[in-house]
Amino acid sequence: MEKHYFAHETAIIDAPCSIGEGTKIWHFSHIMEKCSIGKNCNIGQNVVISPEVVLGNNVKVQNNVSVYTGVLCEDDVFLGPSMVFTNVTNPRSAINRRGEYAATVVRKGATIGANATIVCGHELGAYCFIGAGAVVISDVPDYALYVGNPAKHKGWMSRYGHRLTFNNEGIALCPESQEQYKLENGKISFIGK
Ligand SMILES: CC(C)(COP(=O)(O)OP(=O)(O)OC[C@H]1O[C@@H](n2cnc3c(N)ncnc32)[C@H](O)[C@@H]1OP(=O)(O)O)[C@@H](O)C(=O)NCCC(=O)NCCS
Repeated sequence: MEKHYFAHETAIIDAPCSIGEGTKIWHFSHIMEKCSIGKNCNIGQNVVISPEVVLGNNVKVQNNVSVYTGVLCEDDVFLGPSMVFTNVTNPRSAINRRGEYAATVVRKGATIGANATIVCGHELGAYCFIGAGAVVISDVPDYALYVGNPAKHKGWMSRYGHRLTFNNEGIALCPESQEQYKLENGKISFIGK
């Protein structure tokens, strides 16, 4: 069967796995069996996608990222260079914890900055933004900006990646897209134009 994705000659792709049309896989990356990668994804250099991982469409994985079993990334997720996922909370070399992996769910449009670490067992909300170098140890709400170690709520980010400043009515405008957002009871809803 003709393949509809690109893989550099140094990439290793184990069968069976599913790779969507238009996806590109770059130098020295390893795609492991039973994983599912959507359409138009970009898998950078020296990336590992472990067994049973699911990546949606248009997911961008920058260089030197390992996506471990237990991780799910929805469409349009951005994984910054050298960010780190985990899948065991309390690893010990001499204790076998295979099959005890804690899930990490990264919702649509979320960005994880360079060198950030995501401690497993948490959900990162849609369009949330994790600053470079953050260590995430909790769930993250939709559109929230989290920075630092341990990562704390610093503000809110638009779908276009701009800080949102809310007026007295709880409305904010994205300076790039002109789309509006409403903040109510600590939650953001997307209004649009
Ligand atoms: C989070 C981020 C988007 C914030 O950018 P910004 O809105 O321009 O923020 P500012 O630089 O004005 O900083 C705002 C505040 O957040 C803090 N902050 C910003 N980024 C931070 C980070 N990564 N870690 C800790 N604190 C951070 C600043 O110290 C500042 O704090 P203060 O208000 O107490 O003074 C940016 O700093 C970042 O980390 N981007 C990720 C870059 C990346 O990894 N790209 C990967 C592809 S190359």
